[in-house]
Amino acid sequence: MDTTVYRPVDLPPASSARALTKVYGRGAAAVHALDGVDVDFAAGAFTAIMGPSGSGKSTLMHVLAGLDQATSGTARLGDTEITALGDDALTRLRRDRVGFVFQSFNLLPMFTAEQNILLPLELAGAPVDREWFDTLVETLGLGQRLTHRPSELSGGQQQRVAIARALIARPDVVFADEPTGNLDSRSGAEVLSFLRRSVRELGRTIIMVTHDPTAAAYADRVVMLADGRIAGDIDDPTPESVLMGLDALRALDQPVVR
Ligand SMILES: Nc1ncnc2c1ncn2[C@@H]1O[C@H](COP(=O)(O)OP(=O)(O)O)[C@@H](O)[C@H]1O
Ligand SMILES: [Mg+2]
Repeated sequence: MDTTVYRPVDLPPASSARALTKVYGRGAAAVHALDGVDVDFAAGAFTAIMGPSGSGKSTLMHVLAGLDQATSGTARLGDTEITALGDDALTRLRRDRVGFVFQSFNLLPMFTAEQNILLPLELAGAPVDREWFDTLVETLGLGQRLTHRPSELSGGQQQRVAIARALIARPDVVFADEPTGNLDSRSGAEVLSFLRRSVRELGRTIIMVTHDPTAAAYADRVVMLADGRIAGDIDDPTPESVLMGLDALRALDQPVVR
């Protein structure tokens, strides 16, 4: 198989935020979870959003994915301004254009692995592209597991099913929130390798939230958040460069300049 995926450099971002804010609560109790975020996420790239606990990673992902409303500013998926959409349009956008991978797998326990993977197509009334299904199953090493129910699978296998499910409808972007948070380090490494392969070999776009420098280093780029603001940006990260970035954040308590 030719595994080269052509990635044009002038493609518009798959996802972006401008002056994005999210405030929880009001008055003295107000929490500025996002405080004026400007960021672009390239199509065909694997980007990690990293930062300390409470820095706004999950909130940013939820607003970018249309799971949560912003307080002000704009979020776009491709050229669709999702911060301007009503509930019905948001529901359709999440169903048709976005894939999700969560820390807790979120598979349906009474369905087999295959049924779980095909669920998004079922819900959308979309036909199954068998070639794509087979490619995902092969890439994710799930060929021997398709008739198993989630309770008969290891955590790593369940998360690989969840990844196949997130990719089956070829969404514009897959958002993953701490996808290795419930896995031992070996299964975690496996899942991260599969996420990277789905970008490099299958041309997908993945935005992954993590607080783990080793996990972040699997990405093509790391965007760092601190106190609801963009605080750093690392291309071709290694665990060492990500750790250095985090240390710099702590030491300076102000934006890191590359
Ligand atoms: N539903 C909520 N209600 C009130 N505060 C929230 C809510 N969700 C998140 N927060 C607050 O917003 C900030 C950012 O949270 P979050 O995005 O979950 O951070 P992270 O994912 O980086 O740990 C934190 O201070 C958190 O306590
Ligand atoms: Mg979080």
